[in-house]
Amino acid sequence: MRPAQALIDLAALRHNYQLARELSGGRALAVIKANAYGHGAVVCAEALSDADGFAVACIEEALELRAAGIRQPILLLEGFFTADELPLIEQHQLSTVVHSDWQVQAIEQASLSTPLQVWLKIDSGMHRVGVAPIEAAGLYQRLLASGRVGKVVLMTHFARADELDCPRTVEQHKVFLNAVAGLKAEVSLANSPGLLGWPQVRNDWGRAGIMLYGATPFSAPHAMAERLKPVMRLQSKIIAVRELPVGEPVGYAGRFVTARKTRVGVVAMGYADGYPRHAPDGTPVAVDSQRTRLIGRVSMDMLTVDLTDLPHAGVGSAVELWGSQVLASEVASLADSIPYQLFCNVRRAPLVYQN
Ligand SMILES: Cc1ncc(COP(=O)(O)O)c(C=O)c1O
Repeated sequence: MRPAQALIDLAALRHNYQLARELSGGRALAVIKANAYGHGAVVCAEALSDADGFAVACIEEALELRAAGIRQPILLLEGFFTADELPLIEQHQLSTVVHSDWQVQAIEQASLSTPLQVWLKIDSGMHRVGVAPIEAAGLYQRLLASGRVGKVVLMTHFARADELDCPRTVEQHKVFLNAVAGLKAEVSLANSPGLLGWPQVRNDWGRAGIMLYGATPFSAPHAMAERLKPVMRLQSKIIAVRELPVGEPVGYAGRFVTARKTRVGVVAMGYADGYPRHAPDGTPVAVDSQRTRLIGRVSMDMLTVDLTDLPHAGVGSAVELWGSQVLASEVASLADSIPYQLFCNVRRAPLVYQN
């Protein structure tokens, strides 16, 4: 059997969730949209059986969780796309983000028999979705007055919380606080970089995504992020070895040319598994728990690594593409990507769960 696998450590997931909850100072939603950033939404939700709630992008993702028997609160981060989703939201007891006036109107006009849980999203400066700060108080009052809403949580999302020296998060925070001044409601501000790096924005509800999966959102080392445990180990094996003299090209386009006598290991892992094709020569790869480097262009099903300094490595040696010996964030930054995207791209290599 092809040895490529993504091993998912559910104990590490639980550890990271506990850290998110501890930091949020209240409760934390586990953000498991996009199939839990590629880690498998249903299994991750089952593993987080004591989570305060989950967040997904859309109703399709929420219904998959409900069908699997997940009973905790589930928030739709993009809200509903058309008013006809409201009866389903009610039926499955989902919470929904409201980010636009038309959604408030749709709620006012809906015929519902149980109160909706709404998270009113305010655009404090990310300028993606969210109601204008000046309209927030009015829309909040309309939602409460509609007779169709039980609770409104006030939320916003930060655009640059991963940049710890950037003043934008503080500015967004001020805009948010001004917009909600005088409103008595629970509040949700912090994503992973907010929870890890901005103590002043931690409050009632954290919304932890990437930190759950054990990857740092920051580009520089960060003491709090050091406490995270990697959840995914993308692994495979060496399936062939060859010795090349100086001056030989390796792989497509001959991107890498041997500068010394080189032992080349071929790994069953390629861009069809989600390993980034743009990873340059020198990207770290661990073979038998020792770090070495990628050499040559990544192809669809295989990639090549330098075994010259690992004389004991050979066919059958274990390879970690990312995990705890090589961090996904290292690979991501070299491949002009982010761990979020690397994880989401993992496919074909089966997900294998460990408790
Ligand atoms: C509204 C919202 N909150 C929280 C998150 C989680 O962010 P992170 O993965 O950086 O923790 C996301 C993810 O994109 C989001 O869109």
